[in-house]
Amino acid sequence: VNVQQATVDPRFAPLIDRYVEKTKGSREAAARTRPVLADVRIGNRIAAGWKEIVYPIVCDRSQGSRLWDIDGNEYVDLTCGFGVHLLGHNPAFVRAALEEQLARGLHLGAENELAGEVAEAFSDLTGMPRLTFVNTGSEAVQSALRFARTVTGRSTVALFRGSYHGWYDGLATASDPEGASRPGAPGIPQSAVDSLLLLDYDSEESIARLEAAAGTLAAILVEPVQSRHPDVQPSAFLRRLREVATTTETPLVFDEMVTGFRIAQGGAGEYFGVRPDLATYGKLIGAGLPIGVVAGDHEFLDAVDGGAWSYGDDSMPAATRTMFAGTFSRNPLSMAAARAVLGHLRDAGPDLQGDLSRRAAGLVDRLESPTRTSGLPFTLARCGPMFRLDTEDRALRDLLSYHLVLRGVFACETFTWHLSTAHDDADLDAVHDAIVDALAEIAEVWT
Ligand SMILES: Cc1ncc(COP(=O)(O)O)c(C=O)c1O
Repeated sequence: VNVQQATVDPRFAPLIDRYVEKTKGSREAAARTRPVLADVRIGNRIAAGWKEIVYPIVCDRSQGSRLWDIDGNEYVDLTCGFGVHLLGHNPAFVRAALEEQLARGLHLGAENELAGEVAEAFSDLTGMPRLTFVNTGSEAVQSALRFARTVTGRSTVALFRGSYHGWYDGLATASDPEGASRPGAPGIPQSAVDSLLLLDYDSEESIARLEAAAGTLAAILVEPVQSRHPDVQPSAFLRRLREVATTTETPLVFDEMVTGFRIAQGGAGEYFGVRPDLATYGKLIGAGLPIGVVAGDHEFLDAVDGGAWSYGDDSMPAATRTMFAGTFSRNPLSMAAARAVLGHLRDAGPDLQGDLSRRAAGLVDRLESPTRTSGLPFTLARCGPMFRLDTEDRALRDLLSYHLVLRGVFACETFTWHLSTAHDDADLDAVHDAIVDALAEIAEVWT
């Protein structure tokens, strides 16, 4: 493809030339495989002015805080697998656990011998009495809602604008101007979102709506801190949700996919001192292997198996069971990874999250002044070790991620960035310098 022949916004021509030169292998791979590979990962949104550099950076290997692409470029990784790689890429203790498990086999169907041990470790760290495993976060949230609906016998679930709870039909919702729940994307039927009550996040009016809906809701589902808005940390709102959930006898479900084990060892529940009835987790627990966890009170988890019972007496599983399945749930590799990760988190203690948060705060502080003086409409937001350099203008955000790639920082595919325990001071300096330099260059062309 001749870049010069394509439609290029002249403002971005120098960027496009440098970007294509640096990442040509990724570009060729995208051009070659696109006819066959239907790929949601495309790098950045297609805009006419820079269509020529819309392709994902293809990664060859990863270690610690770094990625290497197929052109041999090295990057400090800020995407960190959407928060998966809290402990860095390919940590030695996870690799050893995986190699050991590979040698023993990938048996499914028979109970995995690690599952019980991982459940106990998870329960110890989170204080959640019972839990079960699935393969993804989306599956975990869907399962939590099914358990809540089973126990309450109700169907409507309240959730909040600006949240993300995965991509399943019954959760991918948007609201129309009147506030009614509408399918969030083509292909999702209205019936899938009919039983959702979409409310404003961090709003007293929403509490009143929840009070008014007393006795009709199967669950109140909330991302305690929305990963898209990490600066909003509404402890008073979360406490109000707990109160209204208790008084209306509605299960409160925290989606801790991003906050769990990250903003505190015990996640948002511990951070805000608000205990949910059910919580969903995933991402970092598997260190790159697929995993989701639904954890909570016995009452809800008993919907999986009818509840605990004993040998040698007349006890029987007493709770109503729902359908719960999954060929790959508790798969041996995910369990081995989770055991290694939870053991590491337990041994490191809460200082791990505290140190990471302090380091992220230091970086964000250093970026305040250059961000302000760039004259560009970016704002900084942070919660724990995740942060955003945000703007309403999607094209401007994309432009920033291109400029960061040029400067050896991988900050693609998401605008919530993550620090891992593998990022050292030199990495933070490199990130800082890359962002400052990128902002300066963007400011020259952005009007
Ligand atoms: C808060 C939250 N819930 C659920 C999900 C869905 O998890 P998964 O992508 O593993 O299905 C995500 C993923 O980003 C998330 O951030």
